[in-house]
Amino acid sequence: MKRAQVLPASDPESIRLAAEIIRSGGLVAFPTETVYGLGANALDPEAVAKIFEAKQRPSFDPLIVHIATRAALDLLVQKTGTVDRRLMDAFWPGPLTIVLPKRDNVPDIVTAGLSTVAIRMPAHPVAQALIVKAGVPIAAPSANPFGYVSPTCAQHVLDGLGDRVDLILDGGSCPIGVESTIVSVSESSLELLRPGSVTLAELRDIMGTSVRAAAGTTIIAPGQLPRHYATKTPVTILRAPGARPAIQARERAGLLAMSAPGQEYEMFCAIEVLSSSGDLREIARNVFAALRRLDALGLNRLYAEPCDEQGLGLAIMDRLRRCAVSTQ
Ligand code: TXA
Ligand code: MG
Repeated sequence: MKRAQVLPASDPESIRLAAEIIRSGGLVAFPTETVYGLGANALDPEAVAKIFEAKQRPSFDPLIVHIATRAALDLLVQKTGTVDRRLMDAFWPGPLTIVLPKRDNVPDIVTAGLSTVAIRMPAHPVAQALIVKAGVPIAAPSANPFGYVSPTCAQHVLDGLGDRVDLILDGGSCPIGVESTIVSVSESSLELLRPGSVTLAELRDIMGTSVRAAAGTTIIAPGQLPRHYATKTPVTILRAPGARPAIQARERAGLLAMSAPGQEYEMFCAIEVLSSSGDLREIARNVFAALRRLDALGLNRLYAEPCDEQGLGLAIMDRLRRCAVSTQ
């Protein structure tokens, strides 16, 4: 069984080696500002197939292609519209993924046979350096086994896929912690396909009011199954922060608290506080790592407090709901 090399991303030699692995058809896990990605040369269908194999990801779930410069778009997409370009001006590099009509250069395996391709220009310096050095666009889903919680540090990648990747670039913890927002533009209005770290308010600032997605509705991009981001331990979302669940006798329960609890909680075996002040950015940064820590304790059930579905809260609650689906 192979074991991934973990190298410090701050060393240019690590980037050089990682780029060489990408160019020769291998898999490299790398940090982005959102979560760690599992990257392969997006133009090489055999390399991309290894991503699906490593993650056990169903082939109907398309991948995001990561680029470092706008010039790379020419190779990948047929055209961009004025709205697309306005979004790129406002949010690239950064955590916004835009779905665009694909060119034939993009292998079908990348897009699950769709006629569109999802493109993102990450802002993380390590992701950028890797794409530039590799000299090819990099297809990358989150670097976790399919359906599990996304990784926000190198250790998470090692835990889940350590025997399936050639190299992990360790760039520390991801500064944002939830995945990119995915949008597509049709007839100059914008459709939100996945809520993420660019908020609806930020999109509306750029777009006016023509963003189609009501807060709290289920937004599903192809391949985004309702039960996704799931822990092994069943998760129940509490009715309100501070609500006391009816815990069964002998049930060993954990609590995912959005802010510091104002009361004693003797009924929980473990409590993870995502932000002492309830700050949504801090909550987003910590939520996946905290879920993983609670999941490792072998408890019977995890209770998660809800947060306000404003701003980043929309993406945070989307991920928690997917985690909780069918485990009630
Ligand atoms: O923040 C992120 O976006 C991270 C980092 C690594 O960049 N990546 C990520 O990828 O979250 P992944 O594979 O976990 O999610 C990609 C999702 C797919 O499940 C699908 O819902 C959507 O992107 N997608 C990809 N191509 C699409 C397309 N052509 N049309 C609509 N949605 C698409
Ligand atoms: Mg994912």
